Amino acid sequence: MSFQIETGRLIIRDVREEDIPILVKQNAEPEARGGILSFQADETYNKKELEKAMAWAQYQRRPYYKLSVALKTDGTLIGSCTYTDVVPESYEAAIGWHYGHRFRGNGYATEAAYAMIDFAFGFVGVNEIFADCFAENRASIRIMEKTGMSSGWNFDLFNVIRGWSYGEQKAAVRYVISKRQWSAKHFKSRAE
Ligand SMILES: CC(C)(COP(=O)(O)OP(=O)(O)OC[C@H]1O[C@@H](n2cnc3c(N)ncnc32)[C@H](O)[C@@H]1OP(=O)(O)O)[C@@H](O)C(=O)NCCC(=O)NCCS
Repeated sequence: MSFQIETGRLIIRDVREEDIPILVKQNAEPEARGGILSFQADETYNKKELEKAMAWAQYQRRPYYKLSVALKTDGTLIGSCTYTDVVPESYEAAIGWHYGHRFRGNGYATEAAYAMIDFAFGFVGVNEIFADCFAENRASIRIMEKTGMSSGWNFDLFNVIRGWSYGEQKAAVRYVISKRQWSAKHFKSRAE
């Protein structure tokens, strides 16, 4: 069962075989190193993850989505994003993102994040969506803020422990949005 969401400028869709070398390269870019976990830059790991995502795409219900993000204008593959636990029985789901260095700074990541949050809240059980990133990843935190996510439980010691839980010696923050907050924000903006 194929997945596709469209935004004003983007198509968020299932990974295709021909995307794999491009996404593997984007994940290994030195500019991204500070923002991701060490193993997430590894070519073998990423190749397997993308193949796994293609296998999951055969199923209508998936616990995990890794998706390609392409420009609507010409299909250029600009990055990828992930969903974890986006199933009706899940209370809480996680999202993540990664874009090629040369496509950054255009608001694409924020545009895709909006669409992904909106889609995830379409699942009956999903009441909360969160995203984690290193405290130093200002661009990622900005995306979370712009989509209306807010920081919860981001105390210094907690953040250090969260970073350790990811196997890293760096503080990691968590931003969260509830379905109620998302709906209130969107009903309000539609009414304005
Ligand atoms: C994080 C990432 C997705 C951001 O992509 P992007 O294309 O810059 O995202 P957008 O253009 O949608 O928005 C970025 C926002 O952060 C801001 N920003 C960028 N760098 C910043 C910095 N160093 N300090 C503060 N704000 C920053 C931008 O100004 C923009 O906000 P604005 O619209 O209010 O001006 C991209 O850098 C990336 O893929 N990095 C590598 C992977 C990664 O770190 N993923 C997250 C792991 S949790």
